[in-house]
Amino acid sequence: MQTHDTVSAMQLLARETHATGQTLGFVPTMGALHQGHVDLIRLAATKADVVVVSIFVNPAQFGPNEDFDRYPRALEADLEKCREAGAHHIFLPSRETLYPKGYSTYINEESVAAPLEGESRPAFFRGVTTVVAKLLNIVQPDLAVFGQKDAQQLAVVRKMVADLHIPVEIVAGPTTRDADGLALSSRNAYLTASEREGACAIPRTLEKIKSMVDQGERRAERLVAEATHLLADERRIRVIYVAIVDPATMKKQLTIEPGNSLLAVAAWIDQTRLIDNTLL
Ligand code: PAF
Repeated sequence: MQTHDTVSAMQLLARETHATGQTLGFVPTMGALHQGHVDLIRLAATKADVVVVSIFVNPAQFGPNEDFDRYPRALEADLEKCREAGAHHIFLPSRETLYPKGYSTYINEESVAAPLEGESRPAFFRGVTTVVAKLLNIVQPDLAVFGQKDAQQLAVVRKMVADLHIPVEIVAGPTTRDADGLALSSRNAYLTASEREGACAIPRTLEKIKSMVDQGERRAERLVAEATHLLADERRIRVIYVAIVDPATMKKQLTIEPGNSLLAVAAWIDQTRLIDNTLL
């Protein structure tokens, strides 16, 4: 496994890989890797000959009062996980490489990015689409893997790639959960044992709503009300949003379309903001 920190090294790698007829798979990350990332890297390795992982905590996607400074960083452990998962190349750009002095170009997806996370974290998707577009131009992969855990990010990236004619296939990787049901997230590291117990009300709620749909409930309003009620029962949780949306457009649905309705939740557990979702 090799590490690189320049744009030219990555673009040369893309040219050489494609010249030999091999395919390039890409997993963008912000580091603090967990089993969920490992599963995304393994998925990329089943679909592409050469796998690139990027590790870059992207300042552009954090708001002024968010956790950029305390976001967990663990480079040595991350490199070990990448190696074990089957990555061949790691791109470790510096902040100056991606955002040199005078940097002034940003990408805004204006529809899929608007609701949910877009409402509660106004800077977030502008930062994500900008850095993902830059990384796709640098790595030039045939396919890029994004976690279903960040369902709106996945939908926004798909829309941007389609709108900007970026020649890459976007692959969704399933959410990896711990034994207690909590979706793996680098931010879980912030939770105390008691907060973690409280946070588990999120996956329990998703399961319960899914079972209501499996039993025939189709009214989105009824399901959102039940999910909100179940979450509000857990005193350590403050709900930010609960919504049932189309998984591609993020537009609210009134009636469940089994297999094509996404229940999305965001909540504070004390100072930690978690999101989760399930397809209904
Ligand atoms: O999901 C993430 O870790 C980040 O949003 C991403 C896609 C690596 C962009 O910084």
